[in-house]
Amino acid sequence: MRILLYLGKGGVGKTTTAAASALRCAELGYRTLVVSTDIAHSLADSLDISLGARPVEVVSNLYAQEINVLEEVRTHWGQIQGYVGNLLRKQGMSKAVAEEMAILPGMEEVVSLLHIHKQAQSGEFDCVIVDAAPTGETMRLLTMPESFQWYVGRLRGWKDATLKLAGSLFSRMAPEKDLFAGLNNLVEGVKELQKVLIDPAVTSCRVVLNPEKMVLKEGARAITYLSLFGYPVDAAVVNRILPGITSDGHGAAQITTPSSDSYLRRLQEIQARYLGEIERDFYPLPILRSPWYDQEMVGLERLRQLASTLFADRDPSQIFFRGQTQSIVEEGNDFVLRLPLPQVELEKVKLTKHGDELFIYLGNFKRELLLPSVLAQREANSATFADGVLSIRFPQPASTGRAAFP
Ligand SMILES: Nc1ncnc2c1ncn2[C@@H]1O[C@H](COP(=O)(O)OP(=O)(O)O)[C@@H](O)[C@H]1O
Ligand SMILES: [Mg+2]
Repeated sequence: MRILLYLGKGGVGKTTTAAASALRCAELGYRTLVVSTDIAHSLADSLDISLGARPVEVVSNLYAQEINVLEEVRTHWGQIQGYVGNLLRKQGMSKAVAEEMAILPGMEEVVSLLHIHKQAQSGEFDCVIVDAAPTGETMRLLTMPESFQWYVGRLRGWKDATLKLAGSLFSRMAPEKDLFAGLNNLVEGVKELQKVLIDPAVTSCRVVLNPEKMVLKEGARAITYLSLFGYPVDAAVVNRILPGITSDGHGAAQITTPSSDSYLRRLQEIQARYLGEIERDFYPLPILRSPWYDQEMVGLERLRQLASTLFADRDPSQIFFRGQTQSIVEEGNDFVLRLPLPQVELEKVKLTKHGDELFIYLGNFKRELLLPSVLAQREANSATFADGVLSIRFPQPASTGRAAFP
């Protein structure tokens, strides 16, 4: 059983790529489910069929479903939301605000993933392909299992404290035993889910991009955080590449057929620049490319066409890359960031850092990296390159030594 998660900024082509991958998988004979978790669903438009909260058969072997996120939250969290909402109202909040606040951040995404996990466990499908919500939320979703358990722990502590304060008043508001049994089930469900999501034999995360600056940065950030939390990323998809641009796959993208139109020509230049950057910055991830078609890619025929360009004769459910694109190891109080790099000339490494962006210069090679906050808070003090891996050391910052209270 394989789970493919397509992530990326809104509008880059996630739904289209997920649908095209799903169609190819179904045609290869896998029982396939493609699921959308984005509240702004567009999977139905992409497949040109009406969809609902239950899987609908699109063609032989292909099922599609748009999760009703709000409904899922009500089912899994409604009782707890009611309970927490009541507690908040007692503190003087208005009903609407209290109920809004009673939804934990990331809850929508957690319940969608739990639902998908259940489908995956059912044994009915060989491939479950997830058209995920835009990057920011999906990242929250993926980091959720740990923070979720933390929140739930707090909630339990809070419950104990309020019960102590208010005696039996609150215990009359909700059937406590059921409530906390429900909470335990959720925590167990989330733990199971995380095990599956970090297992590279089951899950592959793929970041969908366009050759543009903002999209590239957001994609790089997604990969940084996915790597930090140990989620397997096995490819990047660069969608909407203008005609006339080719690349050697190692960062040397160029315009081979310049457009006679100066406007298009400038767009080609921009795209060639960012396509090259993606190939360098996302090394060693394989890059799947698809062109900017002169029509909307909706309906099965166009999706099939897109899949054959993206995957050629490959199977989308295969694992395209094994291993980590970056990792952080602890050495004493230091953190060492390890980055596999293509064989570059071994010269002095120069590092510059602006906020959370790290610029690495190695001979002719330049790479830009978005650091997770834990590294952005420190300074990089040295870098060494050996066996195809660049190791950058981030020592523990000297303590400011200021006590909070004298
Ligand atoms: N390579 C492409 N060429 C032309 N149109 C595309 C391409 N990829 C996506 N589209 C179109 O762009 C729109 C947005 O794509 P979609 O997959 O819904 O993006 P996302 O899910 O990332 O928001 C859709 O109308 C889709 O048909
Ligand atoms: Mg979409």
